[in-house]
Amino acid sequence: MNSNEMYEKMKSKLSRIVPDVELRYKAEIAVEINELKIQRNAVILGHNYMEPALFHSIPDFTGDSLDLSRKAAQTDKDVIVFCGVRFMAETAKILNPTKTVLLPATKAGCSLAESITAADVRALKAKFPGVPVVTYVNTYADVKAESDICCTSSNAAAVVESLHAETVIFLPDEYLAKNVARETGKHIIFPSPRLLAGESAEEEGGVKLDYQLIGWRGRCEVHEKFTVKDIETVRAQFPDVVILAHPECSPEVTSAADFSGSTNAMIRYVQQSKAPHYLLLTECAMGDNVAAANPEKDMLRLCMVRCPHMNMITMEDTRDALKFNRYIIEVPEDIRVKAYRAVDRMIKIG
Ligand code: 13P
Ligand code: SF4
Repeated sequence: MNSNEMYEKMKSKLSRIVPDVELRYKAEIAVEINELKIQRNAVILGHNYMEPALFHSIPDFTGDSLDLSRKAAQTDKDVIVFCGVRFMAETAKILNPTKTVLLPATKAGCSLAESITAADVRALKAKFPGVPVVTYVNTYADVKAESDICCTSSNAAAVVESLHAETVIFLPDEYLAKNVARETGKHIIFPSPRLLAGESAEEEGGVKLDYQLIGWRGRCEVHEKFTVKDIETVRAQFPDVVILAHPECSPEVTSAADFSGSTNAMIRYVQQSKAPHYLLLTECAMGDNVAAANPEKDMLRLCMVRCPHMNMITMEDTRDALKFNRYIIEVPEDIRVKAYRAVDRMIKIG
């Protein structure tokens, strides 16, 4: 495909969203990337949060983290370029270790992945021996390696239920844990440093606690910022708006929204409903991508909160990743093998 054909392809989806001048510029880069992709026998995976021009031009597959993990596990290409953040690229390496996995921006991290270490998980396991550990896929490989099973926002409740355990350690997203607790009817505690240092869980705060989920106070720096007041204000201005919230939002926000689900679940929900106005409480770029796929529906966006990590992934950096073979994701084999068990168990749960 030459750059004119690429421009026409992008324009057919994005003419109402991205100005022509940007489409022409990015179409040229997309053509370069596609040539490099063939030369390197590469596959490009694009998370739903990628900016619209990138999302609609270069990925072979787009989707949420569960979807893209499966695609990474299945690919027979030599190189996987992950247009997403580090924990996603690491998950691809864990699942498909013989491939070269590239992340276009070396600093594209995640506040949730930064919120917990492998030593923290070991301390929890020592405090609650025998209790299974579920970790959100938004963690680094060494944390996954300490876990029994991973989950994503699209299968978190199903993963917890699949364990048939009286108590489960669920890490590290405080809000996802609270949303899962509500969905599954389980009670949750967040162990304090005092408790981890040896105090009895039941007696913490002098109250006998009835809990089945043990959480951690990590938060997504984007989703934690949406408030019930934001929802009320938008509803006052647009009374017929349908509001969708990612489960990394607080339980107050997910309750006040009309629907809560993973990025793929939100996309499906908009596709299948007939309302004229929608507001997605998640990374703003996804609003653009959903608007492009649903031209007859009006997508409101709250773009004052952005994911700085996802936004580091540009088309220029993706081209350079293929050109200069950077930034290579490595996971030490002893950690990878342990993390593989937890991630592989996860991708088998729908
Ligand atoms: P999804 O699994 O819903 O794509 O979410 C990933 C993520 O990082 C959300 O902030
Ligand atoms: Fe992490 Fe939040 Fe960014 Fe998702 S949106 S990658 S959870 S910081």
